[in-house]
This record gives sequence, C-alpha cells and structure tokens, in this order.
Amino acid sequence: MDQQIIMKIDDLRMYFNTNGGVFGNKRKIVHAVDDVSLSIMEGETIGIVGESGCGKTTFGRAILRLYKPTGGSIEFMGQNITDMPERKLRQLRSKMVYVFQDPYESLDPRKTVGSTVGEPLIINHLVRNKKEYEKRIAELFEIVNLDPSMANRYPHEFSGGQRQRVAIARSLASDPKLIVFDEAVSALDVSLQARIVNLLADIKERLKITYIFISHDLSVVKHISDRIAVFYLGRVVELSEADELYKNPLHPYTKALLTAVPIPDPFLEDKRDVIFMDGEIPSPINPPKGCPFHPRCPFATDICRTDAPQLVDMGHQHLVACYASQEGRLPK
Ligand SMILES: Nc1ncnc2c1ncn2[C@@H]1O[C@H](COP(=O)(O)OP(=O)(O)OP(=O)(O)O)[C@@H](O)[C@H]1O
Ligand SMILES: [Mg+2]
Repeated sequence: MDQQIIMKIDDLRMYFNTNGGVFGNKRKIVHAVDDVSLSIMEGETIGIVGESGCGKTTFGRAILRLYKPTGGSIEFMGQNITDMPERKLRQLRSKMVYVFQDPYESLDPRKTVGSTVGEPLIINHLVRNKKEYEKRIAELFEIVNLDPSMANRYPHEFSGGQRQRVAIARSLASDPKLIVFDEAVSALDVSLQARIVNLLADIKERLKITYIFISHDLSVVKHISDRIAVFYLGRVVELSEADELYKNPLHPYTKALLTAVPIPDPFLEDKRDVIFMDGEIPSPINPPKGCPFHPRCPFATDICRTDAPQLVDMGHQHLVACYASQEGRLPK
C-alpha cells in the first residue's frame, strides 16, 4: 500500500524568550523544540513520549501552527504552512485540531455540551440549517458512544470520561485529517484510559484520521501507536515502530523510561536490563553541549560531550541518536 505523507516536518525549532526572573535581567532562550524532523504518514498514529518539560506540548502546538515556529518548516497536506498568514491558514485549521488534557479547560461550563460540539460546524459553515446541525451533533455523540439525548446538558453533569468524550466529539466535528491528542487521557483513571484509547482507535479506523498521541506515559501510547518518537530536551532521540521500540529499545534514555513500565511477559521481564539515569533532567534554558542526554548517561564518552549525535537508521526504520548505541557499545 502506497502511503502518503500528510505532514512533513523539517528541522523544526521552537524557542521562547524569557527574562532571567527577579534578579536576572538578561534574556534567556528556552530551546523547547530543537531540530525535529518527522514525516507523518496519512492514517498512522505517532506516539510522542518523554518526561515533563521535554517539549511535547510545544511540538504539538507548533506543528498545528498554534505557534509561529522559530525555524524549520512544516508542510501539511502538500502546503507549506510555516509562514502561512492566518487568513489563509483558516481553511486548513479545521483539518488539523488539538485535543487538550483537561476537558474542564476546553469545555465552556455555561454552554450545553451539544452547542460545544456543534460550534465548529457553525464556525466552518459545515451545516445549512438547524435540522442538519442537530443531526450532525447526534451523529458525533453516537461516534463517541454518548447518548444524543444528553446534548442539552451542561459539562458539570458529566463524569471526567464523558467530558473527554464530548471534547473528542467536538474535535471530530470539522472532519479533521489530523488530530493532536495532548495527554488526552492522563487525567483519567487507568481503566477509563484504556476505554478512551480503544474508542479513539475505533474512531480512527472508521474515519481514517491521522493521530499524534502525546503522553509522558509509555504504557498509554503502546497499544495505539504505529510509531513512537521519544523526545528528550526538545529533540527526538529515538524513532521506531511501536512494537520494535518496546522489544528492542536502542537509546539509553528509552531503556531507562521502559524500566519504569511493568511488562506482564515474564520472559521479557527476565531479559530486560535495568538502566538507571543519574540526576535530574537538565534545563532547556541552557541545554548541555553535545548529546542532550550525556550528563545523565552512564555510557557517555568524550564525543558525547562535544557533538550532538544525529538520528541514524539502524535497520527496519528504527532510528536512534546515540553514539554508544550506533557503535554497539550498549549492553544488550
Ligand atoms: N510559552 C512559553 N514561554 C516560555 N517557556 C515555555 C513556554 N511554553 C513552554 N515553555 C518551556 O518549554 C519547555 C517545554 O515545555 P512543554 O510544555 O512543551 O513540555 P512537555 O513535554 O509538554 O511537558 P509536560 O509533560 O509537563 O506537559 C519547558 O521548559 C517549558 O517551561
Ligand atoms: Mg505538555
């Protein structure tokens, strides 16, 4: 099957200027996303994982042009949107949508959930009359397994899981091609997380949408992702098919992250070597020279402290940015 690229991201950089706080008056630059290149195929789900502050949200917002990138380029459905003026971008906005972590924030408490779901239909002129409007809202409720008769209720009458379903229904209203889910299930308890993730997988099959699924939790993205990109300090350090990443992690950071995920398979559990990271995640204000992970890496050598490693395909489209891994110096 010939897969098309839906979004092509090249050398994306997103820096923020901050001042040095109360005492400092020197401006500091936060390297939230640094040199990220990724081609997203139509219909796939890409998981974006990494610790808090590694740039996942900034990446998700920048690729949907909710920010103006500092550098690099973004192509969406064949159009370069990097510098596209808002007026022109408006038509594409309905095709790429963002779903937030906390449905409390995205749902207006004063509006019925039906009007929240229906709002994109009106903004984007997708319905011609009230009958069509109501029919489409009922359809969207059914897609997320909510009873359409609930449309007249208010968000406070809903549970957390139901509110997230409402937020998902709203995100589907404009018939998007690409959805970024930013920690979309993180606020829910574990069993509910699995149900929402399954629902999202079903919706994707039915509607042929491309997903970018952001989570700090590797076990959440495992089942829904086709490929996974591991972020560290604003960079992609490993990119691979999901199964392959869990079976055969190549970056010491990914290995360390995975040791925090319980593996139910006792054979795998046995084979797994445990890697502990030293220290805290460094600040993206002064990212370390060379490999961003070197200050915490037990395998770092001189070159890691001076030159940033590039992503290299180690076979089967499994890419890693780590000298030790590329040179086969990591324990298996
Ligand atoms: N608007 C902003 N101005 C200044 N710095 C910012 C801004 N937004 C994000 N940052 C910084 O950029 C870095 C990346 O933040 P981001 O929110 O993208 O990380 P994240 O991976 O989504 O984290 P989390 O898992 O906590 O949601 C952080 O150091 C953050 O403080
Ligand atoms: Mg975030």
